Amino acid sequence: MKADIIKMLKERQGYVSGQELCRQLGVSRTAVWKVIKQLEAEGYEIQAVRNKGYCLVEMTDRLSGAEIESCIKGGLIGNRVVYFEETDSTNTRAKALAEEGAPEGTLVVAEKQNAGKGRRGRGWSSPPGSGIWMSVILRPDMEPSRASMLTLVAALGVSEGISRVTGIMPGIKWPNDLVLSGKKICGILTEMTTELDSIQYVVIGMGINVNTDEFPTEIRDRASSLYLESGRTWKRGSLIGAMAHAMGEYYEEFLKVKDLSLLKEEYEKGLVNLNRRVTVLAREGAWDGICRGIDSQGELLVERENGDVRQVLSGEVSVRGIYGYV
Ligand code: BTN
Repeated sequence: MKADIIKMLKERQGYVSGQELCRQLGVSRTAVWKVIKQLEAEGYEIQAVRNKGYCLVEMTDRLSGAEIESCIKGGLIGNRVVYFEETDSTNTRAKALAEEGAPEGTLVVAEKQNAGKGRRGRGWSSPPGSGIWMSVILRPDMEPSRASMLTLVAALGVSEGISRVTGIMPGIKWPNDLVLSGKKICGILTEMTTELDSIQYVVIGMGINVNTDEFPTEIRDRASSLYLESGRTWKRGSLIGAMAHAMGEYYEEFLKVKDLSLLKEEYEKGLVNLNRRVTVLAREGAWDGICRGIDSQGELLVERENGDVRQVLSGEVSVRGIYGYV
């Protein structure tokens, strides 16, 4: 009910009468009034005027299950929201929920992670109040070898969601980092559990630096946030809603063919490496070439000096621009 009230107040550019809220939600005036008081305590500024009703003056940036649910626009991702004030890692929580049978589309969000995980066994700093730390459970009916493509689908969704809310379109550093001005603003970690030859579930974890105003010196030259790049803060709930919606749309497209052929063009529009020299850091040694885009499996196409084009598999190697991170 709380999420419905937030949603109705947000959607109305003025007052919603108490009577209307009671009628729509099938609850008493006292029940509505109690929720309004809770919302005020959580930081929403709500004006209550006799004979007019309630009007939302200022939204909060505090995350809560109800706030996130009120921002979900329908679609698969976010059909169920699980929120933690603090947890170890939303990926770990999502995996535990998936084991218990949580449905596809379940979105797990935390205000703070105390054991946030990055790729390649690294940690992911996840302080409260400034970033979005969230994971999605997917259950695609396909062979496990196709799962790495979902990371690229998620990158597209996060990038599009950010663009719809802020008007800023981040670039994509293959396979799945989002960048602005050559610095990373979002990282994605995909984990999968398989059963024989099929996927039991995939958990896609996304860490987005939204209102972060400072980074530790050791990563300052590589990390940034939407705030640092745009000069203003953004409501995390709106971003979560838009990213979940966009990701759901791209995931639907992906499922039609179970590869990236329908999304390749869109992905390449954002690809910051495109037609630039990249260094491929493979296990057997580093080599250079010009990035020519991706194929329908999400592999990076890199042209060697002799004109041969090699396919680079995500997860196997990492790619750097010759002048630094991008
Ligand atoms: C990377 O190294 O670039 C991937 C970072 C992924 C971080 C996110 S934050 C939400 C989710 N939970 C985690 O523990 N990690 C991912």
